[in-house]
Amino acid sequence: MAILLTGGAGFIGSHTSIELNKAGYEVVLVDDFSNSSPEVLNRLESITGQKFPFYEGSILDKDFLRGVFEKHQIDAVIHFAAFKAVGESVSEPLKYYHNNITGTISLLEVMKEKGVKNIVFSSSATVYGMNNVSPLTEDLPTSATNPYGYTKVMMEQILMDVVASDPEWSVTLLRYFNPIGAHESGLIGEAPNGIPNNLMPYITQVAVGKLAELSVFGDDYDTPDGTGVRDYIHVVDLANGHSLALKHNLEQVGTQIFNLGTGNGYSVLDLVKAFEAENQVAVPYVIKERRPGDIATCYADASKAKEILGWTAQKDLHDMMRDSWKWQSQNPNGYDA
Ligand code: WQD
Repeated sequence: MAILLTGGAGFIGSHTSIELNKAGYEVVLVDDFSNSSPEVLNRLESITGQKFPFYEGSILDKDFLRGVFEKHQIDAVIHFAAFKAVGESVSEPLKYYHNNITGTISLLEVMKEKGVKNIVFSSSATVYGMNNVSPLTEDLPTSATNPYGYTKVMMEQILMDVVASDPEWSVTLLRYFNPIGAHESGLIGEAPNGIPNNLMPYITQVAVGKLAELSVFGDDYDTPDGTGVRDYIHVVDLANGHSLALKHNLEQVGTQIFNLGTGNGYSVLDLVKAFEAENQVAVPYVIKERRPGDIATCYADASKAKEILGWTAQKDLHDMMRDSWKWQSQNPNGYDA
């Protein structure tokens, strides 16, 4: 069974390739390195002892994609490749709509040409928008508050419409909550370009001395300590969720939607305190204004993935804090030497 991972050198894609390899799948990676590093491929070989087939290129290039499908008997695709910075999507919407939406359409058109009708899609809890109340269930209406979020909502709709047009397609939408942590080896992890938008890489870069202090975006939310509450999930748990979702996808037709979260909510200050306690390293912070577009609380009802996929998150906050720090402390400059 050959599985094509678009964006396979990225944070989630690289961790998923390890778990798929463990589960016995042949993994084929595609990436344009727009938000990842070629060094990831060397790290994957160090971890697994195998050199995964890799092709550098963009999913916008249909001839490039056709070439990959002609070299491998692809049974299913896991589609990670997308831009994902909320703030950048507001300042550069056309870049986001072209890369994420046109890229997905290009991929689906080549899959259709090649008769490959199984896809697992990297979606996001961001599709639950501002008006749904946690714990969030998969049947809730979707919406968005920024172009990045709208690309996820639209890509989900495109995929569901493809299934409606041809019931032989099997589409699995995986809605990630907040992925953090890293592989236990510390060899791969989250390496955002430039100043991190997300909380966890910002915390680890403060801890390692690359950044001076954490800005806590608001302490006046309706939450236990006033700071934002999110459902943080270890990236290895998320990767295993993909492996089980893929197995289920290959046994089905139609559309399936699953939350991949822990069902637990932790605040910004919960994370800061847990990180300092677990790793005995200081994370100085200052309270700032709320970040536009943020909601107070977001966490999953993860029961559907448990009931149907037999998947639940196994790693706790200690694991997430320890593994995030092992990655960052061993790689202060990410994948840059
Ligand atoms: C978490 C909490 C912030 C940074 C986003 C996307 C989502 C997914 C994950 C891609 C919030 C607070 C953050 C900082 C802070 N991305 N925070 N200081 O916003 O829940 O989700 O990233 O798939 O789609 O929407 O994650 O890590 O940015 O924020 O206080 O420097 O940390 O206010 O409460 P978010 P986040």
